[in-house]
Amino acid sequence: MQIDLISISRRRKPADLFFIGLFEGEKSSKLLTGLEPNFANSAEIAIKNKRFSGKKGESLGSFNPEYREASEILLVGLGSRAKFDSAALRDVIGKLIQVAASKKGKRVRILLDSFTGGKIQAAQGAETIAEMTSLASYSFDKYKTKKKEENDNAKGPEVLEILFTRSGDEKNIQKNIDFAQIVASGTLTARNLINEPGNVINPAKLAEEARRIGRGKGVRCTILGPADLKRLKMGGILGVNQGSKTPPALIILEYGASHKKGGTVCLVGKGVTFDSGGISIKPANDMEKMKYDKAGACTVIATIGAVADLKLPVHVIALAPAVENLPSENPQRPGDIIRMYSGKTVEVINTDAEGRLILADALAYTAKYKPKAIIDLATLTGMCAYTFGDKACGIMGNDRSLVEKVKKAGEQTGERCWELPMWDEYLETMKGHHSDLLNAGGKHGGTITAAKFLEEFVPKKTAWVHLDIAGTAWCDTPRSDCPKGATGFGVRLLINFLQNWR
Ligand code: BES
Ligand code: MN
Ligand code: ZN
Repeated sequence: MQIDLISISRRRKPADLFFIGLFEGEKSSKLLTGLEPNFANSAEIAIKNKRFSGKKGESLGSFNPEYREASEILLVGLGSRAKFDSAALRDVIGKLIQVAASKKGKRVRILLDSFTGGKIQAAQGAETIAEMTSLASYSFDKYKTKKKEENDNAKGPEVLEILFTRSGDEKNIQKNIDFAQIVASGTLTARNLINEPGNVINPAKLAEEARRIGRGKGVRCTILGPADLKRLKMGGILGVNQGSKTPPALIILEYGASHKKGGTVCLVGKGVTFDSGGISIKPANDMEKMKYDKAGACTVIATIGAVADLKLPVHVIALAPAVENLPSENPQRPGDIIRMYSGKTVEVINTDAEGRLILADALAYTAKYKPKAIIDLATLTGMCAYTFGDKACGIMGNDRSLVEKVKKAGEQTGERCWELPMWDEYLETMKGHHSDLLNAGGKHGGTITAAKFLEEFVPKKTAWVHLDIAGTAWCDTPRSDCPKGATGFGVRLLINFLQNWR
């Protein structure tokens, strides 16, 4: 998507659509009178006659090929100015992009100043508009044989023009738009990878994609294959992948080694390219969705790519254990006792609790990098999806300050994290009889017991946060910022976190 920042005083050819915001109870602006007097006039009349008051959800449209700015203009109600924050702006822009798509508007113009003021500054507003426009225009149509225009789910304008007034701000606004476009493109990279089906992306293919994403940006890519994993005795990763015909991998992307003194951050992401449950097989219903069980891995990989594009001054390492969880003639069995990379032994009570087994090895392996912080992202438990839906992820950790930092990052990007307790009693049901640990506890508290299991493998005295993204990584009903499918949840949060890391 092309996004142009254009000064209001510059001559321009008409767009297909022009969006102007109006806060509740306010008069249509002088700016609009200058730009499009006829439309401004009729808007004034509509406001006087109470046909339009600027309430959230209201809109006033007009089509006239004679207009200078665009043949179609839409005045959009934003609600009260005092309450209008970036979450509200995100929401409005997402909806407007859908309107633009339904009208097949290719060149869309937006009057920045009419959406800012109050809580939102021009540069910040432009950033949100640019980011949301890219996110909301996304569709995954590479497997559609019809042309883009004929597809129901293809959408979004080709060009977005952001009209601004104050000339002094231009540099700042442009900087924020550039930033937003990199961040959004990172999110879309994650969505693209996650939406790929299991017959296309297996662990080796995911590793190849990770290498491609890091190429030419100063990202060091190391892929540990089956021989390495055996040498390192990564029993968790090897055990889960035992039933698959394709080899497992531990994908490692490293960026910013010269910033080590600021403290290394490790990002660990669950990469199950397909989760059938294994011998503890899942019901058929919804099983096709388990291609998104690699969302954590795709998120940390895409994040490194974006962080490198942004040249953030941080040392960050993404570790993505990648496996496929299938039954076969020689799969992992319930009751198997495996020895993990850390040396601990685990009895596999349920082969469908595989995420924690591969994450345990990757978490323990981070010790090698002496990280100041570890954040893992995993579609770990169905229970977490039941609890929060796609509205928040579960957050758990062993370090108050790190938990707070991650939560704050999520609040700023609109990716909510809701904390669950990590009381030690939750580990009780995971203690083994013939082994150190079991990979599954009882029926209850599943999201927390899974996190308690992971905690056992976190390097000593290292701050760690776990995000259970089982609910947030996928949306079943289209949202204003995302069509049905992978959401790319976490990329923006992680970038925001790393921006504020020192
Ligand atoms: N990948 C699933 C969790 C999941 C389920 C993610 C639904 C997204 C939507 C995970 O590997 C799993 O199967 N977890 C089990 C754990 C149980 C066997 C202890 C679960 O949640 O049922
Ligand atoms: Mn599973
Ligand atoms: Zn899984």
